[in-house]
Amino acid sequence: MVHIISDLLLHPKVVETRSHMHHSISKHDHLLRSARISYKLARVMRADVRTCVRAAMIHDIDSRMGTLRTHGRIAATWAASQGENHAVCHAIETHMYPIGPVPRTREAWVVSLADKAASLTDLTICVTGMLTGRTWDRRRVLRATDPYYPVRKRRLRRHRRVVGR
Ligand SMILES: [Fe+2]
Ligand SMILES: [Fe+2]
Repeated sequence: MVHIISDLLLHPKVVETRSHMHHSISKHDHLLRSARISYKLARVMRADVRTCVRAAMIHDIDSRMGTLRTHGRIAATWAASQGENHAVCHAIETHMYPIGPVPRTREAWVVSLADKAASLTDLTICVTGMLTGRTWDRRRVLRATDPYYPVRKRRLRRHRRVVGR
């Protein structure tokens, strides 16, 4: 599977996700898990493996720039700027279904399902790690390396001022 995404794995935009927190793990772990599941699911669903795996590896890039509904579009726009084809971009854009747009291809369904399965595994790891302490250690490290955290704190403070809490 790695040969399908070897260029992406070296791309700075993907490499930086190693230090981004996502579901209390690194975003890179979530993307890679989604790609692995997509690889298996694509074979079962007779979808194009390359399209599914590439879309899965990109699907949450720059997700912080948008909302639950819009971040698929943001990642798809980035993918298009990198020369990914329409099939890959569509699968990225619709991965949040039913919150976002409806997947219209077999490949898009694979990525949407794989993302949900990967997220479930992420959350299981997170909850299990709460018992062993691993989750808190991982969160401490990611909070220190994730450039989004100071921004998030400022946003929350502003939000509290606006709603008066
Ligand atoms: Fe997402
Ligand atoms: Fe995701």
